[in-house]
Amino acid sequence: MQKPILLFVLFVFFIPRQSFSCPQDQRKSLLEFKKLLIHNNIKNHSTQIALGELKTWRPNSDCCRWKLVRCNARSPFKEVTDLNLNNLVLSGSVSSTLLRPVLRISSLMRLDVSSNFIQGEIPGDGFVNLTRLISLDMGGNSFNGTIPPELFSLKTLQRLDLRMNTIGGTLSGDIKELKNLEELILDENLVGGEIPPEIGSLVNLSALSLSRNNLSGGIPWSIQNLTNLETLELENNSGLSGEIPTWLVGLQKLSILRLGGNKLQWNKNGSVFPQSKFTHLSLRSCGLQGNIPDWLKNQTDFSFLDLSLKRLGGNKLQRFKHKTWK
Ligand SMILES: *[C@@H]1O[C@H](CO)[C@@H](O)[C@H](O)[C@H]1NC(C)=O
Ligand SMILES: *[C@@H]1O[C@H](CO)[C@@H](O)[C@H](O)[C@H]1NC(C)=O
Ligand SMILES: *[C@@H]1O[C@H](CO)[C@@H](O)[C@H](O)[C@H]1NC(C)=O
Ligand SMILES: *[C@@H]1O[C@H](CO)[C@@H](O)[C@H](O)[C@H]1NC(C)=O
Ligand SMILES: *[C@@H]1O[C@H](CO)[C@@H](O)[C@H](O)[C@H]1NC(C)=O
Repeated sequence: MQKPILLFVLFVFFIPRQSFSCPQDQRKSLLEFKKLLIHNNIKNHSTQIALGELKTWRPNSDCCRWKLVRCNARSPFKEVTDLNLNNLVLSGSVSSTLLRPVLRISSLMRLDVSSNFIQGEIPGDGFVNLTRLISLDMGGNSFNGTIPPELFSLKTLQRLDLRMNTIGGTLSGDIKELKNLEELILDENLVGGEIPPEIGSLVNLSALSLSRNNLSGGIPWSIQNLTNLETLELENNSGLSGEIPTWLVGLQKLSILRLGGNKLQWNKNGSVFPQSKFTHLSLRSCGLQGNIPDWLKNQTDFSFLDLSLKRLGGNKLQRFKHKTWK
């Protein structure tokens, strides 16, 4: 008779407690993050914090019920999986060390800390345990330094968005480790060097956006392997040069192609066989001259087209009259 009762007592004391609220250590980590935010605010009055939704973050309550937090409802442990911590800092600046408590939550699948006036280097070592991370958005801050190597070991990552920071260095060939990557967005940073050819092994990549950096060299041949690519943005990297490979226009799913503002040159003698309908195309400053190329005449889906038309001639322009020129 003793044994079933004991088992029942154990059940009542352990299982339910875990299934009704998020793990205690995770709640503590989140409260620590909140404390650091508020501390920053007290220390420096030019730093403004949006506290509204963080008011739901109270000790002794289930953090799965807090705003900006989502948990795994199917797991008995109700671990935190999503944190939408964007736009919490409204002005001033906060240090990137602020993120450390958040990075201790190893069950995270989606983390968004975009637009928070965060400055300093990305705390790379903090990411080593985030082995389930699918989406990481750190855009619109002031992260500096380089992309830490630890990010390349996040093998589950599908989306990496670091746009609008001041990240320098080069893009490492180790990017190939992120085999599940679908979106790589690094626009508006200071990334230099060449686009690593290893990028071509990311077969699931649908968006590659590297505009407004300091990249040099040419467009790697390996990009030909990216048959899922829908968006390729390489605008305004003054050092990108060489011929625009004609196969680029032949990528099956490509609909957004922006190559303007570089030293890339269009090969007007090459044969071009577009396989897709372009919606956005920028070949500004790519040396297009003469008549509208034949392959463009069959393209009808544009909502943006920039070919620097001043130098393109012929009455064939009439065809495009209804389009928006920029
Ligand atoms: C407060 O933040 C502003 C904006 O980032 C900065 O210029 C200023 O030096 C900071 N003041 C202190 C006392 O940290
Ligand atoms: C990054 O920014 C922080 C804070 O502004 C500064 O102390 C640090 O020296 C910078 N690091 C690099 C590599 O520029
Ligand atoms: C990663 O997990 C290990 C083992 O649980 C722990 O000792 C370490 O402190 C964790 N690292 C970070 C940065 O959270
Ligand atoms: C790519 O996407 C497919 C379909 O979503 C998926 O099955 C596969 O695991 C992904 N990763 C790689 C490396 O192919
Ligand atoms: C951009 O790259 C060139 C070398 O290609 C280098 O000389 C220059 O300092 C870089 N600019 C910035 C802002 O990093």
